[in-house]
Amino acid sequence: MESDKRRVVLITGASSGIGYAAALAFARRGWHVAALARRAERLAELSQAVAMMRGDHGELLALEADVRNDAAMQQAVERTVARFGQLDALIANAGLGQRGTVVESNWDDLETVMRTNMDGVLHSLRAAIPALRATRGHIVLISSITAELTMPYTAVYAASKAFVSSLARALRLELEADGITVTDMLVGRTESEFSQKRLGQAGRSSRAGGVPVMRPEQVAEAIVRAVERRQRRVFVRPFDRLLVWAHRIMPGFVGRMSMRQYETR
Ligand SMILES: NC(=O)c1ccc[n+]([C@@H]2O[C@H](COP(=O)([O-])OP(=O)(O)OC[C@H]3O[C@@H](n4cnc5c(N)ncnc54)[C@H](OP(=O)(O)O)[C@@H]3O)[C@@H](O)[C@H]2O)c1
Repeated sequence: MESDKRRVVLITGASSGIGYAAALAFARRGWHVAALARRAERLAELSQAVAMMRGDHGELLALEADVRNDAAMQQAVERTVARFGQLDALIANAGLGQRGTVVESNWDDLETVMRTNMDGVLHSLRAAIPALRATRGHIVLISSITAELTMPYTAVYAASKAFVSSLARALRLELEADGITVTDMLVGRTESEFSQKRLGQAGRSSRAGGVPVMRPEQVAEAIVRAVERRQRRVFVRPFDRLLVWAHRIMPGFVGRMSMRQYETR
C-alpha cells in the first residue's frame, strides 16, 4: 500500500508559528504528520488545511497534549505509531519566551519557561527515541541563536535554549550507534505568536535592534532540509551566523546591544 511507504514526523508546538508551517511543509512533501499542541481548535484548522492540499500529500493526526506532561508525551508517541505504523522524525519545537530581570521576574513565569523549554524537550525525546531507533530516524531540536549570545533581561529563556543546544550535542553521540541524527537548529528572530505570548514585563523589545524578521515558512523549509540532508547544526540564515560570530569576537558589545533591545526600565 502506498501510504505504508510514507515517512512519519511528530512535531510539537504545531498549532502556530514555526511548528504550524513545518507541519504543512512536511505534509506537502508526502510525510504523515502527528501535530501536537494544547489548542485543539488550531490543530483542527491545521488538519483542514492539510486535507485541502492538492497533489500527493500526507495525512495529519492532531494530538492535543502538553509537553510538560511525561505520560501525555508517551501516549502521543504511542498514538502516532498506532496510526501510522512508525516514527521517522521528531521536531521538538514547542516553547515560549520570557522577559524580565533574573531577580525581579515572577517565579511562576520562570518556572513555566523552564518546564516547557527544558522538561518539555526531555519528555518529547524520551518518549520518541525508542520508536526512532526502529527507523534510524532523525531529531530536530529547535534552539535559538540566544543560546550562543549574552542575553540580559531574557536570560532564563536564553539559558533554556543553551540547555537544548547542549543536549543536542551530547545526544548526537549517545544515539550515533542507533543511526539517529540530531540537529541543533539555531533559529533567529521569526514572525509568530512568540512575542505576544512572551511572559514577563513589557519593554522596548519590538525595536529588536533592527534585527530582520524571518517568516515561519523559511524556518520550516530549513527544518525539512535538515531532515532530508541529515544536517547537524543549522543556522537558518547567514545573518544569525554572523551575529553569533560577532558575539564570539566582541561579547561585551553584542551583549550590550541585546540589553538595549530588552531593557525593562
Ligand atoms: N519566534 C522567534 O523569534 C524564535 C526565535 C528563536 C527560537 N524560537 C523557538 O521556536 C519555537 C517555536 O516558536 P514560534 O516562534 O513558532 O512561537 P509560537 O507561534 O508562539 O508557537 C509556539 C508553539 O508551542 C506550543 N506550546 C507552548 N507551550 C506548550 C506546551 N506546554 N505544550 C505543548 N505545546 C506548547 C504552542 O501551542 P499551544 O499554545 O497550542 O500549546 C505553539 O504551537 C520555540 O521553541 C521558540 O523558542 C522562536
